[in-house]
Amino acid sequence: MLVSIIVAVAENGVIGNGNDIPWYIPEDFKYFKATTMGKPCIMGRKTFESILEKLGKPLPGRTSIVVSRSGFEHEGATTAGSLREAVTIAQKENPDEIFIIGGAQIYAQALEDNLVDAIYLTRVHQSPDGDAFFPDVSSEWQETSREDHDGFSFLVYQKL
Ligand SMILES: NC(=O)c1ccc[n+]([C@@H]2O[C@H](COP(=O)([O-])OP(=O)(O)OC[C@H]3O[C@@H](n4cnc5c(N)ncnc54)[C@H](OP(=O)(O)O)[C@@H]3O)[C@@H](O)[C@H]2O)c1
Repeated sequence: MLVSIIVAVAENGVIGNGNDIPWYIPEDFKYFKATTMGKPCIMGRKTFESILEKLGKPLPGRTSIVVSRSGFEHEGATTAGSLREAVTIAQKENPDEIFIIGGAQIYAQALEDNLVDAIYLTRVHQSPDGDAFFPDVSSEWQETSREDHDGFSFLVYQKL
């Protein structure tokens, strides 16, 4: 069972601003949807709330597991008190792959705790202002796949 991160990162490491994503790339939404569909998705409480703001509901077709220390609860989502507990809950579905879908705090902890096997990284060829960042993984991770598009690239990294 693989644990994978999926993230879109600007050239300057920015992934978010004001609990939103500072670009609009429909092709990346489609890629995110196709890649994660049917798989359990783990996310921080703030990312879950930003999804609720956009869609009005949790991501369809995927179990949402929300990591929160404050006991946050929402219909249609499962809450976990830690990232490891979230992974344990996701494993109960017996999926071939579990996705960690953000945000900055959750990505950083997943990488630090060595929970991650692969990173699906959309490199956005912009450098917007932001307040949420993804670390530079180029020294510890190997790029194993790359698809260049106009304004962005789909990359996959595996642990070196
Ligand atoms: N570009 C992308 O691909 C992408 C993807 C996802 C998100 N984002 C962006 O990232 C930003 C949000 O990231 P963020 O770092 O502010 O928030 P976040 O990681 O989504 O959520 C943070 C919350 O998660 C909970 N949490 C964190 N660590 C925990 C732990 N060890 N145990 C239990 N709960 C824990 C806490 O919730 P409580 O406060 O409830 O305790 C914390 O406030 C937004 O701007 C969003 O748009 C970008």
